[in-house]
Amino acid sequence: MSSSPRPCDGLLFFLVVLCVSFNGSATGTEANQSAWLSVDASQASARKIPKTMFGISFEEINHAGTGGLWAELVSNRGFEAGGESIPSNIYPWSLLGDESLLIVSTDRSSCFERNKIALRMEILCDSEGPNICPAEGVGIYNPGYWGMNIEQGKAYRVLLYVRSLASINISVSLTGSNGLETLATSNIVSDDASSWTKIEVLLEAIGSDPSSRLQLTTTRKGVIWFDQVSAMPLDTFKGHGFRNDLFQMLADLRPGFIRFPGGSFVEGVWLRNSFRWKATVGPWEERPGHFNDVWHYWTDDSLGLFEFLQLAEDLGAFPIWVFNDGISNNDQIETSKILPLVQEILDGIEFARGDPNSTWGYIRASMGHPEPYDLRYVAVGNQNCGKKNYRGNYLKFYSAIKSAYPDIKVISNCDGSSRPLDHPADFYDYHVYGDANSVFSLSHNFDHTARNGPKAFVSEYAVTGNNAGKGNLLAALAQAGLLIGLERNSDVVEMASNAPLFVNANDRRFNPDAIVFDSSQVYGTPSYWMQHFFKESNGATLFNSTLGANSAASLTASAILWKYPDDVTYYLRIKVVNFGSNMVNLKITIDNLDSNSIQANGSSQTILKSSSLMDENSFTEPNKVIPIKSPLKAAGKYMAVSLSPHSFTSFDLLTKSQTILVKEHVSIPNLSS
Ligand code: AHR
Repeated sequence: MSSSPRPCDGLLFFLVVLCVSFNGSATGTEANQSAWLSVDASQASARKIPKTMFGISFEEINHAGTGGLWAELVSNRGFEAGGESIPSNIYPWSLLGDESLLIVSTDRSSCFERNKIALRMEILCDSEGPNICPAEGVGIYNPGYWGMNIEQGKAYRVLLYVRSLASINISVSLTGSNGLETLATSNIVSDDASSWTKIEVLLEAIGSDPSSRLQLTTTRKGVIWFDQVSAMPLDTFKGHGFRNDLFQMLADLRPGFIRFPGGSFVEGVWLRNSFRWKATVGPWEERPGHFNDVWHYWTDDSLGLFEFLQLAEDLGAFPIWVFNDGISNNDQIETSKILPLVQEILDGIEFARGDPNSTWGYIRASMGHPEPYDLRYVAVGNQNCGKKNYRGNYLKFYSAIKSAYPDIKVISNCDGSSRPLDHPADFYDYHVYGDANSVFSLSHNFDHTARNGPKAFVSEYAVTGNNAGKGNLLAALAQAGLLIGLERNSDVVEMASNAPLFVNANDRRFNPDAIVFDSSQVYGTPSYWMQHFFKESNGATLFNSTLGANSAASLTASAILWKYPDDVTYYLRIKVVNFGSNMVNLKITIDNLDSNSIQANGSSQTILKSSSLMDENSFTEPNKVIPIKSPLKAAGKYMAVSLSPHSFTSFDLLTKSQTILVKEHVSIPNLSS
């Protein structure tokens, strides 16, 4: 990108510049800076941006999935979180009644082979006799993940496994946070539950409370065992188990891909705690779950490989599966012993896209998806390039995958941006974390990368540290600058995603994040809203543009042609980040365009800014820093616009030009014909 000033294109443009006071912005103040941007809208300058360019990176971090996107309301539903030694901690389950009324412990009597822990509840009181149970009963309750969001009129399916040598009469209730207000209740009555019995109860809520809990109570003496207690709202996205509001936040980004399930979560602090896909598929009751030792919480693995692939399909995004390559933070499998893990990954690919008659394709089909999932990309590990066994292990995975599935694109952890990789790969994974200034500067990182090697996948980028707050405007602007640089380099960078994606506000393990939620609320940080400016870039056409300024203005810009879904309407979008603290008067020229091709009516500008760089959104002010769209009456081939200090602006010019021809595209239709 050039930074030297360039003369304006003729007298006419000077007159336009002098006459147009754009959008009432301040002009002519001493602190104002001047800059110019020239866009070449010719066919020769046009280049297609990959359809996968901007996507999302989902990691099981900050309770993103467990207690987040996955709508399960019960935390530690199988009582496995306390470990395999008994008696174990059953947190966050708690007791209703003291030790004169009941004794609760765990044992290994579950009917599920891979998760043997069950809860044993001995009720000492009775409905008659010397030790009468309280009228409301005794038992256990589960507060979910910092409260269950129960909404009036909505239905919840409770599934549980129960066993008792005597007859049972158990109340299953959703109550307010202190148990006093009953929002929904039903009774399980059985004369014979002597062997493990699966019970299903449908509860319809008569009230709302975002901090509700699930209670299992009785007034009858005896011993009852419980296991795998689940409560799910019926109202999830397509019934697929994804919390609707959080799913919608993702869908609104129209991601080209979704990378999952991490991040460091893939690795584990120890290999024994890493994500192993075979433990995450099949009936939910039979999944063992595992301790997410990187981010310090238990996950029941309801969001397993099948659900991630389904999520990708529901989002219309390509799945990118990051698998453990035999390396964790602290231990590694030697390359000479890696073949069983290589086979496990080949089995996983067969699970995703194998024929329903294949061994693992059959399991997928039995879970409800006979058609293969469209898995085209896999990543070998996360941030492992420097590890002793990485290259050796990588090569084993690479050659096995390529020989079984030649079309699958394999992503290496090693950086190929500044020098060629010493191993074969289709992509290399590149992570960007830093303070705002350094992330903004990295917009030029790929300018000098060799154009003929593997493509870059910037799978994690974020502004971190104190000046990022919990996700403020400053961080969003720096990231916008980075993304503009990646867009301009989209011949060598094919995919990019922000990380982390989600944070449950009650368990902020990594800061900042794009989407903040609790049991009932959600908002996007400025960085989330910044990503909206790029969602039309996937599959769009990039034009060369040249930016110049009269001083060290902190500007960066790009120009694309994007197509409205109706296939008829096209917009020329110019995005500009003003990372500096001065107002900038920007003169824009669009070359090689018919003189009447821009229609002011229908053109718009969208701006992300705020009164302070440190401004953030919150549950109380979710829309403090969001994009604001307004008509762009001054739209034309020559425009003079003012860029607010610390702002990100998109100018969307409605175009009817038939002269803009796009490589690999048909010409744009002449709207008048
Ligand atoms: O995005 C958060 C973490 O940052 C990821 O788990 C890891 O890959 C990176 O270090």
